[in-house]
Amino acid sequence: MEFSEKEIAPLANLEVWEDDILLRYPENAPAKSKEEYRNYDNPERDTVREFYRLNHKYQTYDFVKQKQSEFLKFNKTEMPIWEAFDFLNTLVDDSDPDTSLDQWQHLLQTSEAIRADGHPDWFVLTGLLHDMGKVLCLFGEPQWAVVGDTFPVGCKHSDKIVYSEYFEANPDAQDERFNTKYGVYEPNCGLKNVDMSWGHDEYLYQMVKDYLPQEALYMIRYHSFYAQHRENAYEHLMDEHDKAMFEWVKKFNPYDLYSKLPTPPDTQALKPYYQDLLAKYLPATLKF
Ligand SMILES: [Fe+2]
Ligand SMILES: [Fe+2]
Repeated sequence: MEFSEKEIAPLANLEVWEDDILLRYPENAPAKSKEEYRNYDNPERDTVREFYRLNHKYQTYDFVKQKQSEFLKFNKTEMPIWEAFDFLNTLVDDSDPDTSLDQWQHLLQTSEAIRADGHPDWFVLTGLLHDMGKVLCLFGEPQWAVVGDTFPVGCKHSDKIVYSEYFEANPDAQDERFNTKYGVYEPNCGLKNVDMSWGHDEYLYQMVKDYLPQEALYMIRYHSFYAQHRENAYEHLMDEHDKAMFEWVKKFNPYDLYSKLPTPPDTQALKPYYQDLLAKYLPATLKF
């Protein structure tokens, strides 16, 4: 499928999506109701709505299968992880001088907040890595196939998913193989048997799945699955192991959303610590 420039990049930059999650889930406050959220006065609101319209229209079961076969061969490039962070940072939008928190700063702030709370080192490492899958954007992928809330494909779209009315334009919603409660799945079959909408979460999970503890892998794989970790809309697909592991996904989420510090961490000073941490768990280079 070919997409126009407008369809590839509806947002000024990827952070617009993450800033918007904060409007839906403000710190230390209950989630905003649909109406409150829609009425929130914010000039970026229209681009976010357009972003979800495209996401919900195009993220079909077949689209996900196609992206899996395209990207999970990991035959695009290979690089040291530190280089991948630099690569990721080229995502910063030069036209926006106010983007003080680039992608790398977000990762470092997340990991430093986890470290400050005394969590195990693999949890800290998870904070550092969790958004690295966003390099998909640098391979020319549309923003809505890199970021955005994720959800299961192959079964009914929950109305707990943000802007769920846009699923009307998704062909799967009209396809009786996919539009029932369980669709192609069995009750409580476990998320390992469930395909999620395609994006940076699944891509990075597949990249690092042999190297990190289960808890870390769940945090990476499902951190954008707000319909479950915030709204509990898909428990009928989860097994007991998923339910136990989602406690970690929930533990991770506040670090992802709320760890923006006023002064950015000193990258150079922190580099030796993180280089040792990366070397402890991961190979010297990763395949993308
Ligand atoms: Fe993310
Ligand atoms: Fe993040």
